[in-house]
Amino acid sequence: LDNGLMRTPPMGWLAWERFRCDIDCEHDPKNCIRQATIIHSHVHTVKLLFERRLVRENLFIDMADRLSEDGWRELGYVYVNIDDCWASMDRDEKGRLQPDPKRFPGGIPKLARYMHDRGLKLGIYGDMGTHTCGGYPGTPLDKIKIDAQTFADWEVDMLKFDGCYSNATEQEQGYPLMSNALNATGRPIGYSCSWPAYQGGLPPKVNYTQLGKICNLWRNYGDIQDSWDSVLDIINWFFENQDTLIPAAGPGRWNDPDMLIIGDFGLSMDQSRAQMAIWAIMAAPLFMSNDLRTISSGARSILQNKMAISINQDPLGIQGRRIIKEKSGIDVYWRPLSKDDSALVFFSRRNDMPYRYQTSLKKLNYTTGSYKIFDVFTEKTMTLKDSTDFVVSVNPTGVVMWYVSAPAKLSLRQLYKGGKL
Ligand code: GLA
Repeated sequence: LDNGLMRTPPMGWLAWERFRCDIDCEHDPKNCIRQATIIHSHVHTVKLLFERRLVRENLFIDMADRLSEDGWRELGYVYVNIDDCWASMDRDEKGRLQPDPKRFPGGIPKLARYMHDRGLKLGIYGDMGTHTCGGYPGTPLDKIKIDAQTFADWEVDMLKFDGCYSNATEQEQGYPLMSNALNATGRPIGYSCSWPAYQGGLPPKVNYTQLGKICNLWRNYGDIQDSWDSVLDIINWFFENQDTLIPAAGPGRWNDPDMLIIGDFGLSMDQSRAQMAIWAIMAAPLFMSNDLRTISSGARSILQNKMAISINQDPLGIQGRRIIKEKSGIDVYWRPLSKDDSALVFFSRRNDMPYRYQTSLKKLNYTTGSYKIFDVFTEKTMTLKDSTDFVVSVNPTGVVMWYVSAPAKLSLRQLYKGGKL
C-alpha cells in the first residue's frame, strides 16, 4: 500500500501469541490484557504506592517501558500492538467500539499518547465480520467507516484486521473498504490484512497484486504457536510457495509469516537463531510476542542482532528465496541486498549432530571473484573466492547466517595501474 508507511518491514511487539485472550486480571495480573488501573485515593502517599505497584502489572505499559529502556526502540522495534480481547462487549451510545472499561479505564487515546511520548507507536486489532476470532464485537460492512474514524480519533498507528465471522463475499468488499476508510481519515495508519489467510493464501483465490495496493502487510497462512513444529510448518509453506509470494513483497507491502516466538518456551537457542535468520531472509515483519520483562539474555541478543535486523530491513525490500534443498536435509536461502550485497542462510533439518556441509560460492551462483563474509551470529569475518570449496557446520534445527559483501569495486586508479585502461 502506497501510503508512505512501512517502506521496510514493520518491527515491534504484538500481544497475541504469548498473552492470548487472558482477561483474568484478578488471578493473573501480570499476564492479562490491560492498561493502567488507576486507584484513586485521598491519601497521596498511598495513591503513589498503589499506582507504582499497579503500573508494573500492566501489559502494554510494561512492554512500552521495556522497548524504550532496553535498547529495542533504537533497533527499530517501535510498534506496541494490542490484539484481540481489548473491546467491551457493547458499542457506546454513538455506535463506536469501546475498550473494556475495567481493563482499559484510561481509554485507548491515553495509551496512544504514552507510546507517542516515548517514540513508539500503538497498534490495535479489529475484525472484518460480526465478531472477532475471540468472540468480541467485530466490524461488519456497515461499521467500517465509523470504526476507521474511531481508530484515527484515538491516534492509533496500525490496524490488524482479522477475518473471523465473515464470508468470502463480505471480505472481498470489506478489506478494500477499510483501506479506503483508513485513508479517508487522513491519519497514517499501517494496515495489516488477514484476508489471504482466510482464502487459503494462494491464487487464484488470493490476488496479490490487489493486496499490494490496499494493505501494508498481510497474513498468508495459519497462526504461529509456541513450538518448533509450528515454525517449521510455516517455513515449509512459505518456501514451497515462494514463486508466488516473492513478487508480492516490496516496500510498503509485505508477506507476514506471523510473530517471532523467540524468548518464549518452545524454541531452543539454535531454533531461535533459525527463526530470526529465516524471517530476515523473508523480509518478514518482525513482531515479537514474548515477555520483554523476563526475556533471557540469549533470546534478547538474537532478537537484537544488528546484522540480522539490517538484512531484514534492507531498503530494496526484495524477499529472499530458497535456492537449494539438499537430500541431506540442508537448505540454502539467499536474499539480494542493496549495493550488490546479499545474505545466505544454511539451515539444517537434521536431528543428529552438527552437519558439515561442503559447497562453494560458485555453486551458490556467486561468480565475480572474492567476497567478504560476515558470520551474523558468531561475528567472525573472512574472505572467500567464488571457486574455493568451504565447509560450514550447521547444528540440528539450526542455521549459519552470512552477510556477503560484494567484491570491492576497483577504483579507476587501480584499473589504470593494472593496465586495464
Ligand atoms: C486469529 C489471528 C490471530 C489472533 C487471533 C485472536 O486466530 O490469526 O493472530 O489475532 O485471531 O483471536
